[in-house]
Amino acid sequence: MGYVGPRTDDKALEVIMEGLGRLEYRGYDSAGVAVVAGALVETRKRSGKLSNLRSALQEAPLPQTATAIGHTRWATHGGPTDANAHPHRGGADGKLAIVHNGIIENFHGLRQSLLARGVRFTSETDTEVVAHLLSEAFTATGDLTQAIREVVASLDGAFTVLALHADQPHVLVGARRNSPLVVGLGEGENFLGSDVAAFIGYTRQALELGQDQIVTITPETYEIINFDGTPSQGKAYEVTWDAAEAEKGGYATFMEKEIHDQPHAVADTLRGRTDVDGNLALDELHISEDELKVVTKVVIVACGTAAYAGMVAKYAIERWARIPVEVELAHEFRYRDPVIDAHTLVVSISQSGETMDTLMAVRHAKELGSRTISICNTHGSTIPRESDAVLYTHAGPEIAVASTKAFLAQITASYILGLYLARLRGEQTDTAAVMGELKEIPAKIEKLLGTMDRVREIAYFMADSRAVLFLGRHVGFPVAMEGALKLKELAYIHAEGFAAGELKHGPIALIEPGQPVFIIVPSPDSEHGLHGKVVSNIQEIRARGARTLVIAEEGDTDVEPFADEVIRVPRTLPLLAPLLTVVPLQVFALHLSTAKGLDVDQPRNLAKSVTVE
Ligand code: AGP
Repeated sequence: MGYVGPRTDDKALEVIMEGLGRLEYRGYDSAGVAVVAGALVETRKRSGKLSNLRSALQEAPLPQTATAIGHTRWATHGGPTDANAHPHRGGADGKLAIVHNGIIENFHGLRQSLLARGVRFTSETDTEVVAHLLSEAFTATGDLTQAIREVVASLDGAFTVLALHADQPHVLVGARRNSPLVVGLGEGENFLGSDVAAFIGYTRQALELGQDQIVTITPETYEIINFDGTPSQGKAYEVTWDAAEAEKGGYATFMEKEIHDQPHAVADTLRGRTDVDGNLALDELHISEDELKVVTKVVIVACGTAAYAGMVAKYAIERWARIPVEVELAHEFRYRDPVIDAHTLVVSISQSGETMDTLMAVRHAKELGSRTISICNTHGSTIPRESDAVLYTHAGPEIAVASTKAFLAQITASYILGLYLARLRGEQTDTAAVMGELKEIPAKIEKLLGTMDRVREIAYFMADSRAVLFLGRHVGFPVAMEGALKLKELAYIHAEGFAAGELKHGPIALIEPGQPVFIIVPSPDSEHGLHGKVVSNIQEIRARGARTLVIAEEGDTDVEPFADEVIRVPRTLPLLAPLLTVVPLQVFALHLSTAKGLDVDQPRNLAKSVTVE
């Protein structure tokens, strides 16, 4: 966030620290501030919670000022260290600092060219590259707005950047692409923030910036231009939320906010993973292609929702890379004396990167000589640190205990790994076609989220259900398991997921009149031809009185005669369907929990990260 106050005033630091406190839920592995102090810019930054920064400011106070920027970090490039914390300085004159949210996809090349010009870096972050480019541009233009306009033209990816410069002490400039930036309009003071929570304690008059726009604020003025320099107007509005609602983006719970964050979580996890030719470029993977080529088996270890992401991954990796994949609950794998060796690739999946069961499984795999890759959402956490390689998901901080956007990001990262292995092994998978369809998924999730009213009604109608069953087949089977887990976690209802083919081997005895059953139906275009079999399953349970709640593709009319409810999802490649079919089940569990008046974000008995075995 950023603040420019009355020239004679000196409350900027207090405003920033209060705002960062409200933004801390967005990312809390490090924090920092920068102030204009006379002819220079001074910064203070610390890894860990905001309280560490407060202590640092008490030990070594910054000079009072009217202009400041601040940042709480959710690391994407470079671990959560003091050096990697924002703000980052540019140039050697100590006059410029920036803060940044997002991912600069092309930072490697930009960093190399800066190094070639003799620039010295003090961090591993993509952000510092922007700071140095901005310092160079300011030297040429003497104007921060023009300098930022020049720099953003060379950046690819997602970014919200705020900058201040000691030579323009009462000016702040912000720029955004694929990442939020809002202006807070005060009396003789103005604010910038990645969301209104930053300044809601001071003003409710806000201005939203559009894509590819730059805003320049002073205590009395603001000016918006497009990246091409043409003038523009922001979208003014009054913030009606209170501070607590602001942290949740206006949603009633973090879970609801995170469900709606899922298009970004998938898009950001895909971002930066292909090179200019569209080939996969997993530069952070750090396992040589030669080592991956000799892998004869993949074992996925995870717990809970992450394990269901692993089950989806199995279908995709085996189909594309033609390599055997076993999915193991980490806490079972660890103690069953598994048959793995140096030719086994053990892939752990973990949102927190701290799940003890999963960490112990990774340690055991390393003891047996296997190579290990971590698919993780928390930069610098223990599991990626102890793995040979990491493929980070970029879902942003997931606050609700029940995992939603991290789950979709884990599946997305697993698809990327599967395609990468397929290419390495010379399999004939059409990577470009799959990546092309994956890039359509965020918009399809967005569209699907706009059609959830009936799901909410069903949830309220079913609030007194005693047991709910979930049936799925192929990649729909892990989705059924995840749908059941969401209901257990959130509504404390007995729920069970089955492979639909298993029904007549016993579970069909559970079916009685009125028994609610969700059925995730594969696409009629699936090459495995299971669609007809699942429609028969629906018929079998409907004949025995089940209340059939069917998740089916748009246009699939075969299901209609046997469905009490049909919940439509957009069409996509059959293997990618879980990214869509799970969404109504997440929304259902959320609303059923709400209908029962339960604590959606912190369900009873649960913790966000299970750090004990
Ligand atoms: C999912 O909603 C649960 N919160 C839980 O199953 C979770 O997925 C599991 O504990 C694994 O956590 P991790 O991804 O942080 O390792």
